[in-house]
Amino acid sequence: MKLKYFSHSAFQITANKGKIILIDPFLDGNPTSPEKSDNINADYIILTHAHGDHIGDAFKIAERCGSTFICVNELANYCQAKGFTAHNMHIGGGFNFDFGKVKFTIAHHGSITPEGQYAGEPAGVIITIGKISIYHTGDTGLFYDMKLIGEMTPVDIMLLPIGDNFTMGITDAVKAVELVNPKLAIPIHFNTFPVIAANPKEFKDKIEDKGFQCRILNYGEEIEF
Ligand code: NI
Ligand code: MN
Repeated sequence: MKLKYFSHSAFQITANKGKIILIDPFLDGNPTSPEKSDNINADYIILTHAHGDHIGDAFKIAERCGSTFICVNELANYCQAKGFTAHNMHIGGGFNFDFGKVKFTIAHHGSITPEGQYAGEPAGVIITIGKISIYHTGDTGLFYDMKLIGEMTPVDIMLLPIGDNFTMGITDAVKAVELVNPKLAIPIHFNTFPVIAANPKEFKDKIEDKGFQCRILNYGEEIEF
């Protein structure tokens, strides 16, 4: 399995069976993104919530690739109303897809479509492929149930925001890592815009001091498991 970072909250997972899964593909409008969505393919697109910096170029990519959306019910309905294929799920539910398992978790945030339509609850997502579980928290503040999430699904890789203002900042993100207890933490959702400026090295140092492993991914960097 490969995990590639496109900055902000956007990742591409290439599963062992060759399926490509995109999470929150925000590329064309991302000032820090050299890659444009025309070059990105996807079999599946997972959206954590409907904010513009997460839906991003999802519809453009799905139109070209015939991708299937995976999201909470109300957001899946929105995708279907636009003519796309979507698999409706909801928080707490898991489903086995041909590439692996997807389970949605709570996230404390908002979710509204670019047209101003309610898009259900925002979510985090746990993707399990083979023996590896990746927990993408989505946009969220810190919450104590992260401890329960980590107990129910031992997390190998945790992708979590550190940019503050809209989500956890560094101090809360350090606590989130302690609650979830992942094998590796990767900071996301920072430095895309001035309002979410943060120093990932500060986060790395702080969680390494507590015995956790951290990897700061540069744009386009890919790790393999
Ligand atoms: Ni958001
Ligand atoms: Mn966001």
